[in-house]
Amino acid sequence: MLRLGVNIDHVATIRNARGTPWPDPLRAARIAEAAGADGITAHLREDRRHISDADIDALMEHLDLPLNLEMAATAEMQRIALRHRPHAVCLVPEKREERTTEGGLDVAGNDSMLADFIAPLREAGCRVSLFIGHEPAQIKAAARIGAAVVELHTGAYCDLDTEGRIAERDAELAGLTEGAQLAAELGLEVHAGHGLTFDTVGPIAALPQIAELNIGHFLIAESVFTGLGDAIREMRRRMEEARA
Ligand code: PXP
Repeated sequence: MLRLGVNIDHVATIRNARGTPWPDPLRAARIAEAAGADGITAHLREDRRHISDADIDALMEHLDLPLNLEMAATAEMQRIALRHRPHAVCLVPEKREERTTEGGLDVAGNDSMLADFIAPLREAGCRVSLFIGHEPAQIKAAARIGAAVVELHTGAYCDLDTEGRIAERDAELAGLTEGAQLAAELGLEVHAGHGLTFDTVGPIAALPQIAELNIGHFLIAESVFTGLGDAIREMRRRMEEARA
């Protein structure tokens, strides 16, 4: 069964554009749950540009679905995660000037720091996920330091598809396919996400090793036209069709 995690960050982006209490990310999470989402993802960024500390408090208190807390590997974020103990913590690289998470985490180059960083999170019962590219060195490093999950970065694959660079897109998809196989062989649970749309989700959902997709921006964008529930139901339908 392929799970869908709905990332609600950009509900908060719209709210923050006007400084109003609406639209409320918790309400979006409840609609996602009713539409069949298996989990909710929220990225608490260092600059709090979308999700706020109060959003995380509200999600932890009121949401029945498991929360996947995305965050950078900083001392502040570790303290917040240990206070809340969400179901999952996904570590991502974060740069202030970036528009969104641009690349994967360099686990191979920071293995001892990350091993120390994730140890208390694992002890607190959080499933630790590392957001990485599909390079074998990164996947092997994630397994070596004891992560439970890797989330493979699908952003480049999606961008190449949008730009119509089909040969490069297919090469990227081949890399993701091999990465998912290697990660599963090493005993890691495999997730994927970033940039996925109705058009790009199929080939990723079809990879049999992938247990979960995390999708946000496109679903929130589509919900302007169809409502969030319909956007999620259509995404699920396409995921299931590809998996079948
Ligand atoms: N997975 C991770 C680790 C991410 O950082 C993001 C973006 O916050 C997503 C998935 C979802 O990406 P998108 O919003 O492009 O669907």
